[in-house]
Parts: sequence; C-alpha cells; structure tokens
Amino acid sequence: MTASDTPSFYRRILDNLGDGVLLFDKTLTLTYINMPGEMLLAVSARQVLGARARLVLPCGEQPVEPDLRHAMETGISLTKRNVTLVHPLHVITVNLHISPITEDEATGVLVQVQQVDRHLRISMEEQLLAQQNAARSLLRGLAHEIKNPLGGLRGAAQLLERELQDELREYTQIIIEESDRLQSLLDRMLGPNKLPQKAWLNIHRVLDRVTQLVQAEVPAGVRIVRDYDPSIPEIFGDADQLIQAILNIVRNAAQALGMHGRIVIRSRIDRQVTIGERRHRMAVKIDIIDDGPGIKPELLNHIFYPMVTGRAEGTGLGLSIAQGLISQHGGLIECSSVPGNTVFSLFLPLEEDHEASVPGLGGR
Ligand SMILES: Nc1ncnc2c1ncn2[C@@H]1O[C@H](COP(=O)(O)OP(=O)(O)O)[C@@H](O)[C@H]1O
Ligand SMILES: [Mg+2]
Repeated sequence: MTASDTPSFYRRILDNLGDGVLLFDKTLTLTYINMPGEMLLAVSARQVLGARARLVLPCGEQPVEPDLRHAMETGISLTKRNVTLVHPLHVITVNLHISPITEDEATGVLVQVQQVDRHLRISMEEQLLAQQNAARSLLRGLAHEIKNPLGGLRGAAQLLERELQDELREYTQIIIEESDRLQSLLDRMLGPNKLPQKAWLNIHRVLDRVTQLVQAEVPAGVRIVRDYDPSIPEIFGDADQLIQAILNIVRNAAQALGMHGRIVIRSRIDRQVTIGERRHRMAVKIDIIDDGPGIKPELLNHIFYPMVTGRAEGTGLGLSIAQGLISQHGGLIECSSVPGNTVFSLFLPLEEDHEASVPGLGGR
C-alpha cells in the first residue's frame, strides 16, 4: 500500500477542499464531516457526529431530510440552491449538492455544502467602504474650504471688537464664539489627520480604558460588562486611535440606553475572516452589545456615513470616524440591530508572524 492509499491520505484531501463534505447513513445520521464543513457550520465533529440531518443542516421551512431520502430512494443526485442555514450564532446561505452513495449493500448520502454568500458579502463590504471613503473625502474637502475663510472672519471680528464700544461688543463676541464652535465641528469632521503610531499592544488594555472612560459618564442604572478571551495575542496598532474608535461605539450604546441597561464588551478570536479582498487566518473580534431600543430602521444602512445622526444633539461623525480609524488598521466594523439587541462587531486582523506563534493552530 502506498501513502496515497491510506485512509488518512483521503481524509487530508477532504480536509483541504474548499467545500464542506458531510456523509449521512441511511437513517440520516451524520457519520462524517470534513474540516471545512466544521468551519462553515461552526461546529466541531465531536459535537455533531451521530446527530440527525435536520439538526446538522437546519434549513428552516424547507427541511433537508425529504431531499436526502429522495436521493437515496431514487439514486438520483440533486442540488438545492441558495438554502439558508439558520444556526443560533449565524446565518449562512449555501448550495447543497446531494448525492446518494451505495457500496456493498450500505446506502448513505453525501452532501457537499458550498457557501454562496461570502463573495456577495465581500463585494457589498467593498462597495460600502468605497462609498464611505468617498463621503469622507468630500466632507474633508468641504471642511478645508470652510476653515480658511472662517479664520479670516474670526480675525476680523477680533479687530473690530477693539474699535467698538462695550455695548456693541456683545455682537462681535457672538461672531467669535460661533466661529469657534464651527471650527471645532470642522476639526471633528476632518477627523484625526495623523498617521497611526503603531506598536504591539494588548487589546484588553484598550478595552479597559474605554470602559473606565464610559463608566464615569453613565448613570448608575447602566452596567458595563467585560467578557474577554485572555488568550488573544497582542495586536499591532495605535492605542489612542483604537481607544477613540471603540469609545465612539460604546458611547453611542450608552446614549441609546439612557438611564438603564447593559453594555457587553466582548473579545474573541475569529478564524478565516475576509476583510475587503484579504482573507485572514485569524482576527480579533470585538463585540459591543447593548440591550437598548436599537438603531432606527431608516438609519441602519447609513449610520457609518458622516453627518448621519438620530440624535438632536448628534453630529453623526462618531461612527464615520471609528470606521476610518479601524480601516487604517486593516479592519472593519459591522453592525446589526433589533430592539433589545444591538451589536457592533469590530474585526482587527492579526499579523501573520504573530499567528504562527499561537498554539493550537499548527497543521491546519
Ligand atoms: N447602540 C446604538 N443603539 C441605537 N442607535 C445607535 C447606536 N449606535 C449608533 N446609533 C445611531 O447611529 C447614529 C449615528 O451615530 P454616530 O455616527 O456616533 O453619530 P452621533 O452619535 O453624533 O449621532 C446615532 O445618532 C444613533 O441614532
Ligand atoms: Mg456618536
């Protein structure tokens, strides 16, 4: 027997395919799942081997079991397209290729699971990032144009003030104060204009700092809960910028909650994360979750644009700035919201050379 005949060799081939491969026996019990299958379905083989097909492939209203049975009875393969698999933690869209297998009296059915929404998601993200960048640079251009004459106006008002009697100075004061207010708004619109000063840092120190700052601002009825994965390796980033970005998100959550509620700041490692065009083996995922009223549906698709706000006193700059800072770190912010559960997820890729030093990933 040569190396290419051994079962472990075939197992390796199956584990290196791009698609999930699942094998069910004739009672529709799972007898095999390859590694991409585990990853796609976010399960481990240990958990699901021996489980029934409807639990492994929860297709909601169009259960998969009748199709598996049909394939076995007729001996005909079939493909189910754009099937939505609803797992407690995530929803994915897949194509299922179902083929009956018969060997030595034993029947079973092979299911290939191919994810179809990943490339859709990537192109949507790219489009969104491009649009946000365009909006940001338009705004920056505009802000620069306004800043110069504004400085002139303020200077002229100051000169005028010296020439005027006391009772008229009230008016020059208004010009000066309002110019200052505009000036600081413009500065915020322009956002940070320095390049990131990156260094190796512990993301939890960043999250602690944000917690500390927000804790001091919120009423007693708002609880901030930290849920960290202590095994996350250091990341290469600008601590001040990361604090600013995450602070903007946590502040929004606190503002949405008002007097009562809970904010969870959670850190985890996420694997096989695609950001823009790059696929990263590992990324740090930071979730900021609040149980407030949720983002107004009419705002949900626009909140990352500058000047989009749902608050009377808001500037609509917080999330646009946060997104800009995180994308300078090669990362991405996503958001989903329903009343009672709003989640902002920040993805920060882990540098390749650091990944290699993380235990438990060898051999994948
Ligand atoms: N956690 C949240 N819950 C509800 N609404 C939110 C949340 N985060 C952001 N928003 C909405 O997104 C809008 C934009 O946020 P942001 O860009 O920070 O600007 P601003 O806070 O100045 O309004 C907010 O005004 C709010 O309507
Ligand atoms: Mg804000």
